[in-house]
This record gives sequence, structure tokens and C-alpha cells, in this order.
Amino acid sequence: MSQLSQKHLLGIKDITRKDIDLIFKTARSFKDVINRPIKKVPSLRDITIANIFFENSTRTRLSFELAEKRLSADVVNFSSSSSSVKKGETLLDTVNNILAMKVDMVVMRHSSPGAPHFLSRHIKANIVNAGDGTHEHPTQALLDTFSLHDKFGSLEGMKVAIIGDILHSRVAISNIFALQKLGAEVMVCGPNTLLPKHIAELGVKVELDVMRALKWCDVANVLRIQLERQQIKYFPTLREYSLYYGINKKMLESLDKEITIMHPGPINRGVELNSDVADSDHSIILEQVENGVAVRMAVLYLLAGVQDA
Ligand code: CP
Repeated sequence: MSQLSQKHLLGIKDITRKDIDLIFKTARSFKDVINRPIKKVPSLRDITIANIFFENSTRTRLSFELAEKRLSADVVNFSSSSSSVKKGETLLDTVNNILAMKVDMVVMRHSSPGAPHFLSRHIKANIVNAGDGTHEHPTQALLDTFSLHDKFGSLEGMKVAIIGDILHSRVAISNIFALQKLGAEVMVCGPNTLLPKHIAELGVKVELDVMRALKWCDVANVLRIQLERQQIKYFPTLREYSLYYGINKKMLESLDKEITIMHPGPINRGVELNSDVADSDHSIILEQVENGVAVRMAVLYLLAGVQDA
């Protein structure tokens, strides 16, 4: 059987184009499965997976849980807000206690960049990073690029603009790596204060003007302003941000071509995207969510086959 080059999925930076192609091929089969009347396969029947979330999540957590259940895995869920972490237990103690209950795989979201990498040096179970602080969100980038692959057949030569709060975005970083590995050109666009200083070193174009970004791109992946990660003010008000960087239907209609709009969610409607764009035919936002289950099934299934890579 073909398998991934890594035992864990910690970031897109660590995986190869071949890994991504294998994940997409596997996800395509699982997409067929979840569109059948019987949406379950027995592939991970003897595997136990713990979803441990130290940070809030709606889409990622539900999507992983559904993916695991569709693969017939046994699933346990852990949320730090209702756990003994509140009593001072360390990350490693918490996870080792969960693993002592014979857990084979861990899906983890944490607010600290590098938390899943730290765990991977101390535990035997396969780890999937479900978002670590401002670092990476690999399955989001895989489902985003899979959705584009599904719609267009290839990402080779495609122009993708990532627009918004790039500075605090793990989705932006993982998407840049995934898009480039698949042959797309990437631009980041946002106010100067929300663009990392050395972002151009990743080989992306940098643009401050949102209309110029929209004119350049085939696809705009629009990101939320992550107020929860901002300790200082990066722009005067949300109203002003929306005025300069919010995307509305009139802007799309002024272009001489159709572009595709993506958003990883959660959307702040009326800030980075107006409803007349988010709910329009340009948008593939709900396709992204649908594809997320198939892509996560593929990742879990393929990692379960890698024990000592
Ligand atoms: N896209 C994403 O990571 O959403 P959640 O924070 O709801 O999981």
C-alpha cells in the first residue's frame, strides 16, 4: 500500500507533493463513500482516536469527529475548558494519561505554536495538528487546495490571493506551503500592520491594495481578523478595516472575469466579506467544509498505516 512519508501530520512544510497527491487521491474515494446512503467504512475499526482541543473550534472538531466515525474508529473527545488542565496539569501529563487508556492517534489543537511537535517527541501515537497557534493548520490547507483541485482539475499556474490578517494566520502559512507545492502562484494582501515583515521570503507576492489583488487573482482566500490573538491595535476600527479590505459584490462585478471566493470560517460577515459575496455563486465556502470530512478521513486512514516512518 502507498503510504505517507511522515508518521505525524504536523505541518504542510514537512510533507511532500507526493504525500499531497496521495491524500487527494484517497480523499476522492472517501468523498464517494460519504455521498452514499451508507456513509461508513470499517477501515479504522480497531483504532482509538482522541480529539484534544485546548482552543475553541466548530468546523475542525466536528469535521474530525465525523471523519473518525465514518471510518469506524472509536472516538474520545477532550476539551481543556472542562478538564484537569484547569487544575494545573501539564500538556504532557494530560496526553500521557489519555494515551494510558490505549489511544492510537491524537488530533490536537493548541494555542501554542509547536505544541504538537513537542508532543511528537514524547509519545508513540500518531499526531495530527488541528491548528497550533499562529503556526500551521495543515488539514485546513489540504481541504482548501483539495476544493480547488476538485473545481479546476489542477492548481498548476493558478493565481491565489490570500487576503486579510496574514500576521496571525496559521491558515495563511499552511496554504502558502500547500499552494506552492501544487504549482500555484500566491499573493498575500492586507494592511501593512497585518503582514509579517519577511513574508516575501516565502516566495509570495505582497500587495496592500485589495482591488489590485482581486484583479490579479483567480481565487481569493479571505481570512478573518483574529482579534483574539491581537494584543495591540493593528488598525483603527473594524469599520475602517471593512471599508478598505472588506469584499462586496460590487467589487467582484467590477472585474472583467469571475473569481472564486474561499474562506476557512468562521466568517465575520460585514467585516472581511459581505453576505452578498459569502452566499453567492462565487463562493465555495460550504464545499470547503464538505470536503474537509473526506480530506480528514484520508489523513487519518493514511497515517494509521505509518507507525515508524
Ligand atoms: N477553519 C477552522 O479552523 O474553523 P474552527 O476554528 O471552527 O475549527
